[in-house]
Amino acid sequence: MKKKVNWGIIGLGKIANKFAEDLQLSNTAVLHAVASRNEERARNFGEKHKSVKFYTSYEELADDPEIDVIYVATPHTFHFENTMMCLKKGKGVLCEKPMGIDVQEVEIMVREARSRNLFLMEGLWTRFMPSINKLMEILENKAIGDILFVRADFGFKADAHPEGRLFNKKLGGGSLMDLGIYPVYLSLLALGIPLDIKCMARMTTTEVDATCSMLLNYENGAKAILESTLEAETPSEAYIHGSKGSLKLHSRFHQAEKITITQNGTKEVFNLEYEGNGFIHEIEEVNDCLLRGEIESSKLPLKTSIEVSHLIDRIKKEIGLDYKTKIASHKA
Ligand SMILES: NC(=O)c1ccc[n+]([C@@H]2O[C@H](COP(=O)([O-])OP(=O)(O)OC[C@H]3O[C@@H](n4cnc5c(N)ncnc54)[C@H](OP(=O)(O)O)[C@@H]3O)[C@@H](O)[C@H]2O)c1
Repeated sequence: MKKKVNWGIIGLGKIANKFAEDLQLSNTAVLHAVASRNEERARNFGEKHKSVKFYTSYEELADDPEIDVIYVATPHTFHFENTMMCLKKGKGVLCEKPMGIDVQEVEIMVREARSRNLFLMEGLWTRFMPSINKLMEILENKAIGDILFVRADFGFKADAHPEGRLFNKKLGGGSLMDLGIYPVYLSLLALGIPLDIKCMARMTTTEVDATCSMLLNYENGAKAILESTLEAETPSEAYIHGSKGSLKLHSRFHQAEKITITQNGTKEVFNLEYEGNGFIHEIEEVNDCLLRGEIESSKLPLKTSIEVSHLIDRIKKEIGLDYKTKIASHKA
């Protein structure tokens, strides 16, 4: 049986750097090749992260027969095109979040991977953090009773450059797709799919959401209040209140290293540190799946990525965010 997994990385930006640092912490991963549109970046990145090879074309990397899985770390609007290209060339893919720009894209990607019997997973890395593992245990054991209410926010003040990835509509900009996906995913883990939603956003001149406020209502009466913003440093904490107690995922909640449970006025604190930059946990999940010959993670199945994307589409519809229409000022 194969003992190591050969990785490729395409799109050598900020997150690819952090991810590549964590690849070096794994005993079962080898960084086999990296690819950038820019030769100097490919060479420098390859040297820095001890990659065996580097390429100046994403396609050439995907053609390398020694690669098992490719980490797609390009802006959101390229995830579909890049992932489909890798799958069609017979490679497994770990695709950064959000997996697609809408649920149609995600469903096509999932069908392609399944029909080719290839591994595919969304880079919702938080799912593999020690804190989220603990959270899942608490929720499964109903330690705080039935969930009544979830409150979560994620926000920071970003450089409002209209051409930058976070504000540029052509690159999938906006707070919801970049940050809001984390509170949305948490609400799905805790409460499932909401019955109805009410959302409002402040839009930028580039027609993406600078701030998005979401109120979710569930069949059993539970509620979630979620928020994402690129305009201000917000606490970035999450609270889950149940019939027997409450818990807090400490800031920044999506990579929390501490959970506090409060019951009858008594607090219990769990310290749950992650290793490296936090990506090592998702890397080990992918390695384990591949070495076992599995094409899907049981902790983060593709069904969940479809549900996350579908819920985000419902929110986008409410706030009038549509990546497939051109910016009004650029029309005609
Ligand atoms: N999991 C997390 O915590 C986390 C955190 C941040 C971001 N992300 C996700 O990772 C993805 C990348 O984010 P990032 O912050 O790393 O972005 P970034 O620094 O802008 O890097 C993106 C890279 O994509 C490549 N690219 C290909 N076509 C491009 C285009 N037309 N314009 C710009 N870049 C293009 C570029 O690489 P080359 O020029 O080298 O080809 C670029 O360096 C996003 O989808 C984001 O949601 C995840």
